[in-house]
Amino acid sequence: MNQDAVKRTLGEPRSAYQRALSAATLAGFVIATAAAGADRTVQTPSIFGPASTPAHAIRELALIVFGITGVIFLVVAGLTVYALMRFRRRRGDDGREPPQVYGSLQIELAWTVVPILIVVVLFLVTARYIFAIEWRPQSPQALEVTIVGHQWWWEIRYPKLGIVTANELHVPMSDPAHPTPTFLTLQSADVIHSFWVPQLAGKMDVIPNKTNRIWIDPQKPGGYVGQCAEYCGLQHAGMLLIVTVHSKEDFAKWAAEQQAPARADAELRAGRELFSSLSCINCHAIRGTMANGVFGPDLTHLMSRWTIGAGVIQNTPENIRAWIDDPASLKPGALMPAMKLSPGDLDKVTAYLVSLR
Ligand code: CUA
Repeated sequence: MNQDAVKRTLGEPRSAYQRALSAATLAGFVIATAAAGADRTVQTPSIFGPASTPAHAIRELALIVFGITGVIFLVVAGLTVYALMRFRRRRGDDGREPPQVYGSLQIELAWTVVPILIVVVLFLVTARYIFAIEWRPQSPQALEVTIVGHQWWWEIRYPKLGIVTANELHVPMSDPAHPTPTFLTLQSADVIHSFWVPQLAGKMDVIPNKTNRIWIDPQKPGGYVGQCAEYCGLQHAGMLLIVTVHSKEDFAKWAAEQQAPARADAELRAGRELFSSLSCINCHAIRGTMANGVFGPDLTHLMSRWTIGAGVIQNTPENIRAWIDDPASLKPGALMPAMKLSPGDLDKVTAYLVSLR
């Protein structure tokens, strides 16, 4: 794409207010936006729509707990309503207190022992599910992924495949007959985050200087939305994660595309050189160039991603230009500074980044 084409694509720069407004709208409705996307659909996140073994187990446990507590609710509420009706004040009551019961061993034992038994049952059932999920050994077929929580985005690394990406986790489907689960190693670069994709597994805290593990084995292809589940600062709510579950062939295709070096189109040399001369390269990596920063997301295949800013806005050339110009206009609090480039330089850098497919 030459610069005129970029200008045509990007149109006139919009006001910061307009951009902020559209960012806010998108942040709120990323799922709807995602669902409207061309060939990608995303399930509304719900613990009642599980698509992976740990999430199935959690739903089962939740139903058991709801069942037991539901019966307790019905008994307590039923007795309360009965007492209110049966013993309500009537005309002709003589106003005396009813007989008071003190020190009944039977009653006190009943209301102590029964709740303890209920709590013990809930504890044992929960412990059984926790151990069943946590004690699964990692099989040799398992895919290994390292996820690093940052303020406010997710770094995603496939150490054995040599892939680094951000905010969009791609995994193969796991056939129950021949399981190919994905084991995730969770780390934090700054504060405590929490990794949560409700339809795939439970929450797992992401803690600085500690490594946590979690696994998923999604059984149907599709898109699943996750969200940081531990308050981690201003953009905690703007820290989304999209998981795409592929068939084995599609996953291999995706991995091959990600493993390819960054494109280096000759006509975008000006943009590439400008990018390399700016402070961008201190924070961002583009494989095969001198940019090797690790503070911000890897941009080698930036345009293969669906959103920028960890789910707050769609990944379009227009939004990338607005982001480089002033990230805070789209994601207030984002740690990337406004680049303060001239409109011409902004076009050049945008054209280069937009070429990174
Ligand atoms: Cu990261 Cu909340």
